[in-house]
Amino acid sequence: MVKLVIVGTGGIAHWHAKSFQSIEGVQIVGACDIDNDKVEAFTNEYNIENTYNSFDDMLEHCEFDAISNATPDPFHKEIALKAIKKNKHVFSEKPLAENYPDAKEMYDATKDTNLINMVNFTYRNSSGYQKLAKIVQSGGIGKVRHVDATYYQAWLTSKYSGDYRTQNKRLWRLSTAHGSMGTLGDLGVHIFDFASYPVGQITSINSRLKTFKDKGEKIGKYVLDANDTFISMIEFDNGAIGTVSATRFATGFKDRLDLKIFGDLGAVKIGFEDPVEEGNQYQITKDTERERRKSDKLKWDTINTKPTPNNFERFIESIKNKTNDQPDFKRGAEIQKILDSCIKSSEENKWIIL
Ligand SMILES: NC(=O)c1ccc[n+]([C@@H]2O[C@H](COP(=O)([O-])OP(=O)(O)OC[C@H]3O[C@@H](n4cnc5c(N)ncnc54)[C@H](O)[C@@H]3O)[C@@H](O)[C@H]2O)c1
Repeated sequence: MVKLVIVGTGGIAHWHAKSFQSIEGVQIVGACDIDNDKVEAFTNEYNIENTYNSFDDMLEHCEFDAISNATPDPFHKEIALKAIKKNKHVFSEKPLAENYPDAKEMYDATKDTNLINMVNFTYRNSSGYQKLAKIVQSGGIGKVRHVDATYYQAWLTSKYSGDYRTQNKRLWRLSTAHGSMGTLGDLGVHIFDFASYPVGQITSINSRLKTFKDKGEKIGKYVLDANDTFISMIEFDNGAIGTVSATRFATGFKDRLDLKIFGDLGAVKIGFEDPVEEGNQYQITKDTERERRKSDKLKWDTINTKPTPNNFERFIESIKNKTNDQPDFKRGAEIQKILDSCIKSSEENKWIIL
């Protein structure tokens, strides 16, 4: 039995609780939040025995093997380091930390331990994506030449899930003083992992970040200054090039990811809003000169895929097998380095070599 605790009991923690409770051999033995009302309601809802208001208190008084860290970004590092020091496995929400040095410190802390560490890059839960990644990694579309990845949201231009101006849960994402790296930290963290996991290491980057929405305005304690749209040109270690972009001005898209990878023997693509419901397929074409059909029409085949273990399942399996599956803290730190490089590139108006 893996005894697990959840730290931070806000929005995303409900997904953690439901997911971990659905895995055989896992018991959630405690939950912790600095907001007592929230943690009480949470432990009641999920029938969790122990309630804490401080992680230090939890570390001292609760017996457990692993933590699921669902606190806001600025607390990921401190809580993970304390847990690792006490020999606990760590499942962390993304981004791993607020910057690369912090993320590297977290990764370094896991080295020379047998502790399982994982960062919740949600879109790895798409089985179509996992299959697509394997095809590209094994040379199934030949040498990769061009990559195109976008992440679109529309909550600054439409009110499909309420008005961001009156919702604290959204406002912190627009304010650097509240730990937000804007679209880059929120969406970039996902789309850079999405774009590069199948292809390889990003070696250089040129980015432009923009803050359009009510720049400098103050709503309550939140100064709106985090970037809300970005574009990046990238180059990979295998020579391929690509573009990665994300925006919260993508009217018409609630939460949409798209990826196209072109090799010299074919291409693959995938796109979805929900990685599990819609991400169980990908498309592939090998419509190169060799395979030209009589018709002029180029053909893409849609391939359906069987569900893949989600990150929560992979984390628990890793603990049981004593072998760290992906995406681990090393990967989390790599992505953080990319994000930091985007900021530097935009500020200094130049290519950055990673
Ligand atoms: N993987 C994904 O797709 C995805 C989606 C949404 C959010 N997230 C990430 O999940 C994290 C949490 O986001 P959220 O939307 O649930 O935020 P939230 O504000 O709804 O919840 C965070 C909770 O943590 C509590 N908290 C703050 N500091 C704490 C501390 N030191 N100790 C214990 N509890 C503390 C808060 O009181 C709050 O209840 C963020 O890092 C966010 O980036 C990931």
